[in-house]
Amino acid sequence: MACLCCMEDLDFSILLAIEIMSDYELLYMLREGSKRRRVGTSHKEQRGRCRERVGNSKPKRTKLLNNRNHRSQTTTASTATQKQNHHHFWLVQVVWPLVHMAFFRSISALSRLRSRVGQQSNLADSVRWLQTQSSTNTDLFSELKELVPEYQERVKKLKKEHGNVELGKITVDMVLGGMRGMTALLWLGSAVDPDEGIRFRGMSIPECQKKLPGAFPGGEPLPEAVLWLLLTGKIPSKEQVDSLSQELRSRATIPDYAYKAIDALPVSAHPMTQFTTGVMALQVQSEFQKAYEGGIAKARYWEPTYEDSLNLIARLPAIAAYIYRRKYKDGKIIPLDDSLDYGANYAHMLGFEDPEMLEFMRLYVSIHSDHEGGNVSSHTAHLVASPLSDPYLAFAAALNGLAGPLHGLANQEVLRWIRSIVAEFGTPNISTEQLSDFIYKTLNSGQVVPGYGHGVLRQTDPRYTCQREFALKHLPNDPLFQLVSKIKEVVPPILTKLGKVKNPWPNVDAHSGVLLNYYGLTEENYYTVLFGVARSIGVAPQLIWDRALGMPLERPKSVTLEKLEQLCGKSS
Ligand SMILES: CC(C)(COP(=O)(O)OP(=O)(O)OC[C@H]1O[C@@H](n2cnc3c(N)ncnc32)[C@H](O)[C@@H]1OP(=O)(O)O)[C@@H](O)C(=O)NCCC(=O)NCCS
Repeated sequence: MACLCCMEDLDFSILLAIEIMSDYELLYMLREGSKRRRVGTSHKEQRGRCRERVGNSKPKRTKLLNNRNHRSQTTTASTATQKQNHHHFWLVQVVWPLVHMAFFRSISALSRLRSRVGQQSNLADSVRWLQTQSSTNTDLFSELKELVPEYQERVKKLKKEHGNVELGKITVDMVLGGMRGMTALLWLGSAVDPDEGIRFRGMSIPECQKKLPGAFPGGEPLPEAVLWLLLTGKIPSKEQVDSLSQELRSRATIPDYAYKAIDALPVSAHPMTQFTTGVMALQVQSEFQKAYEGGIAKARYWEPTYEDSLNLIARLPAIAAYIYRRKYKDGKIIPLDDSLDYGANYAHMLGFEDPEMLEFMRLYVSIHSDHEGGNVSSHTAHLVASPLSDPYLAFAAALNGLAGPLHGLANQEVLRWIRSIVAEFGTPNISTEQLSDFIYKTLNSGQVVPGYGHGVLRQTDPRYTCQREFALKHLPNDPLFQLVSKIKEVVPPILTKLGKVKNPWPNVDAHSGVLLNYYGLTEENYYTVLFGVARSIGVAPQLIWDRALGMPLERPKSVTLEKLEQLCGKSS
C-alpha cells in the first residue's frame, strides 16, 4: 500500500487495491473453508457461512486498510496527504464495494492466489474446493463461455503491461538441439516438470486419480473429466462429467464416406496412415471452415472451433475402432453403447468387454491426453491451427508427428523389442546378465532402447509409474510385466554409462504395451492409434483457447548456417 500512495496512475492503484483486498478476503475464506471441512460441514453450508463471514468482517478489513494507509502516511505525510485522501476515498467508497460484489465471481483472482500459494497444499486444496464449487454449469460450452472474457483480459493485461519481460535466452545449442528448453509456447492445459512429470492444470496424476470422477467410486479418472479439467481449469462434478459423456455420444455419428476413405487404403496400410485418412475425411464436416466461409467475426472463432473439437473427440474412437476391426478382426463395426463412458466405449467398440480392460482404457486415455505444448504432436497441432486451419486439419498433422518412432510410435517399438527379447531366449524369464547383453546388442547395432529417455523429463515418468501400479494391482504375475520390471532395473545404469543420455529412466511407452497385450490387444502396430485418440483430449482444448485468445499465426525466425557462424564469430 505504501507504493500505492506514490503511484501517479489512479486506475492502476485501484487495480492493485482490488488485488490486495480480494486476495486478503480469499485467504480469510479459504481458512474458514478448510476449518469447516475438517468439522464435516457440507460444501453448500460452508459457502453460505463463508459468504456470511466475509460480509461480517467488512469493518475489520476497512480498519486494516485504514491502518495500512496510516502507516504509509507517517513516512510520506508532508507531500502526499491530499493524494492519499483522494485515494482513500476511492478505496473505501468505490473499490471496496466493487470487490465485495465481484468476489464470488472472481475466478481470475482465485487463479492468481492459487499460483501464489501453489506450494502450500492445504491452501491450494482449498482453492481447488472453491473452484469445484464455482463450477455449476452442466454444459461445457456454457462453462467455457463464462471463462473466455476473463482469460482474454488476463492475456491482454500481460501483453500490455509485461510484453517486454524476458523468459530466457536463446543459445546456439537450442537452435541446433531441437529447441530444447526454449520457452516459447503458451499452453494452458498442462505443464511438465523435469523431475516431477506432468501436471494437468496443476494437478499431478495421483491427484487426478483421487479427485476426478471415475466410472465408480475410487475408479480411474474418466477421460471426459480430464477434458473438462484441461479446458476449464476446474474439477468437474460427476453430474458434469456424465453430461459431457452424453454429449460426446450424441456427437459420435460417423459419415459413411469416412469409412469409405479408409476402405480405399489397402488393409496392409499402417493403422496410423488409416487413422490420419479417417480424420481428414471427417474434416468435410468442419464447422469452423463453414463459419469462416460465411464471414464469422474473429471474436467468435472459438465457437465453431469448440464444435469441431468436441465432434472430433467424439468421433475418433469409432474411426479408430473401425481401423482395428478392419485390419485385425472381421471388419464389422461394433456400435457405440449408450450406457458407457468415453474410454469404456472405445474399448467396447474395439471388441473388449472385460471390466478391467475398460478401466485400463479410462486410465490410458486420461494419462496420454496431454503433455504440455512442446511435444511433437501437440506443438504440430498448435502450429498448423495458427493460420486458422480447422481442428481436423491441425489434428491430422499432429497424428503424423505422433506416428514417428521417437514420439508416439515408441509404444509399438517397445512391445516389439520386448517380444524380440523373449524370442531370443525362448522365455521372458531371463537373467539380469542375459538382459544386459541384449540391451548392449541393441545399442551396439545403433538403435535406441525404446521406452527410455525423454526430451524434458529427468526422472521416471509418472505415467509409467501409474501404469505399473495398475499392473501390480491387476496382473502382478504376468511374465511380460515381470520382464518390464526387470528391464527398468537394468536399462538405466547402462544408459547412464553411455555418458550422453540425459534421461536414462522409463517413459510412458515403456509400460503400456504389456498391459494392452495382457488384456488381448496384442497387435502392437495399433498402439499409436490409441495414443492418438487420447491426444485429442489434450490438443483440442488448446486449439479452442488459441482461437478464444486470438493467438496469431506462428512464425518463428530461422537462421542460416552462415549467419549462425557469423554470429558465433562475433561473440568469441
Ligand atoms: C525420447 C528421445 C527422442 C529424447 O531425445 P533427446 O532429447 O535428444 O535425448 P538426449 O538429449 O538424452 O539424447 C542424447 C543422446 O542420447 C541418446 N539416447 C537418448 N535416449 C536413448 C535411449 N533410450 N537409448 C539409446 N540412446 C538414447 C540420443 O540418441 C542421443 O544420442 P546422439 O547424441 O548420438 O544423437 C530419446 O530419449 C529416445 O530416442 N528414446 C527412445 C524412444 C522413445 O522412447 N520415445 C518416446 C518418448 S516419450
